[in-house]
Amino acid sequence: MRNPLIAGNWKMNLSCQQGTDLVTSINAAMQETEVEVAVCCSSILLGCIGKAVENTGIKLGAQNMHWEEAGAFTGEISADMLLEAKVDYVIVGHSERRHIFGETDEMVNKKVVKALSKKITPIMCIGETLDEREAEETFSVLKRQLEEGIKGISPEEAKTMVIAYEPVWAIGTGKTATPEQANEAIGYIRSELEKLYGNPVSEEIRILYGGSVKPDNATEIMNCEEIDGALVGGASLKADDFIGIIQF
Ligand code: 13P
Repeated sequence: MRNPLIAGNWKMNLSCQQGTDLVTSINAAMQETEVEVAVCCSSILLGCIGKAVENTGIKLGAQNMHWEEAGAFTGEISADMLLEAKVDYVIVGHSERRHIFGETDEMVNKKVVKALSKKITPIMCIGETLDEREAEETFSVLKRQLEEGIKGISPEEAKTMVIAYEPVWAIGTGKTATPEQANEAIGYIRSELEKLYGNPVSEEIRILYGGSVKPDNATEIMNCEEIDGALVGGASLKADDFIGIIQF
């Protein structure tokens, strides 16, 4: 049985105080959820939010990480720095990193490899654009991003990672993939994982859905057989919305 995970991706939002208040509200609602909950804040907030989540059961995540150990990489954050901040998760290959900051599958792979080697759980995001979906390239794009992203990852490491299916056209647009579309894409990702690693490894890997998840669509998304949780953007910034989602 895969333990569902609902992670908030705060993106470039919230102050230390706003994030702390949000964590306090989420924590007050934690008894009424069975799922694992994480908040992924910007790097500069990791210390502050790390303190806020102490003794709460809420996990801490970062939104990005560099693949090198250390060195002349101005503006970057290393895995060891994330470990010092007691991070559990790191989002890798988010479509905003790929599309705005030019992250390639190769870079995503190096980050996934590094995170796993440091025992930080990567949440590796993959997903097609609207043009790709309309050109019926969804599965080929997912296959490429998946295979390139996890190149060189052993079955033991793969078991521990999290994959997020985030169709680019559903992010921040209010357009959610239908539960059938999300379930189908995630089922496809799992079938590809089975080809690469065999079953039961493929059955252990958690695959989340992300893209305009809100309290009013969380239940139908979370009830899909293939979907093991959600990566939530906009709705993770408001206590009522995020609590509505984790208590789907
Ligand atoms: P929204 O929930 O705002 O669509 O964002 C999804 C996302 O990008 C999570 O990583």
